[in-house]
Amino acid sequence: MTPPLLVVEDLTVAFEGDPRPVLDHVGLTVPDQAWMGLVGESGSGKTMTALALLGLLPPGARVVGGRALLEGRDLLRLPPDELRRVRGSRIGMIFQSPRSALNPLMTVGAQIARAVRRGGYERKPERAALDLLRKVRIPDPEARAQAYPHQLSGGMCQRVLIAMMLAVRPRLLIADEPTTGLDVTVQAEILELMQGLQRETGMAILLVSHDLGVIAENCQRVAVMYGGGVVEDAPTDELFHHPRHPYTAHLMATLVRADRPVDLASVLPGARAEEPPGAGCRYAGRCPHVEAACLSRPVRLEPVAPDHGVACRRHAELAPLSLEVKAGTRGREEAS
Ligand SMILES: Nc1ncnc2c1ncn2[C@@H]1O[C@H](COP(=O)(O)OP(=O)(O)O)[C@@H](O)[C@H]1O
Ligand SMILES: [Mg+2]
Repeated sequence: MTPPLLVVEDLTVAFEGDPRPVLDHVGLTVPDQAWMGLVGESGSGKTMTALALLGLLPPGARVVGGRALLEGRDLLRLPPDELRRVRGSRIGMIFQSPRSALNPLMTVGAQIARAVRRGGYERKPERAALDLLRKVRIPDPEARAQAYPHQLSGGMCQRVLIAMMLAVRPRLLIADEPTTGLDVTVQAEILELMQGLQRETGMAILLVSHDLGVIAENCQRVAVMYGGGVVEDAPTDELFHHPRHPYTAHLMATLVRADRPVDLASVLPGARAEEPPGAGCRYAGRCPHVEAACLSRPVRLEPVAPDHGVACRRHAELAPLSLEVKAGTRGREEAS
């Protein structure tokens, strides 16, 4: 087995003056040359995790512990200028608002040409930029190359960013809700372009999403976040069919009962990371299997198999959790 591309351990982030960390011992493993999903309700810490890895935390927030090893280097400890270099070359990023990731004062053609130069293709970057615009299926590329970001739709801007990733070819692409806010057809086209990007460059993609369907279709591995921590990190099949954390089991049972795509924002209404976790398990307040010992000390992610981590002190005795989900799956098969 090839070693993972990125290993995050105990990543802890806090805002100044707030004793409660927003990210608390986050751990996850991103395999090389594959798609990794990061799912969780809104407010669970997905974006903070992405920003911490990129060294782009908002003012007032800082990393107070942990490590994030990419190709042997700890991203959390790189000097700022070195991290900036890594961000431009080894790690790429796509965010929910693609327009704000582009320079408003430069034509998109010039921005892609700059990425082409950065990617090391010195000859005819402007011509290469047009080829890339064609490749991400932007109609009338000659005219569009002359446009400024505000003259393009969100979907078009996302294509421009994907064209730039094709030029730079980072080892890891962090995509935070890249299709949220786009209409459904455009969403599907952007995901298809990302699949092409991944195949062509062999990059790894960390896909942040609250859409379990998108994750299931694209990702080989998934980490589930809840309340500022990762509660389970496993191969997708394993996670969907044999969840070991009560929260994951709850999500999967909801998923198999539903007859349409499940948006995590609606799975557990009112559920928020803001719930005070106290000293114990972060999920204790909502867990049907909670017992006194769950409340007395923090519960960290621990391996239940070589490539499967779970943060639940009762995971072994609760192992038949997956049966609940299987029963749900059977129900759906019978119904169809
Ligand atoms: N600029 C900020 N200042 C203070 N708290 C913040 C800020 N941004 C996010 N948070 C808090 O950090 C937590 C995680 O947020 P975030 O990572 O954006 O969640 P997600 O991306 O999973 O929806 C939330 O509780 C949120 O309230
Ligand atoms: Mg977010």
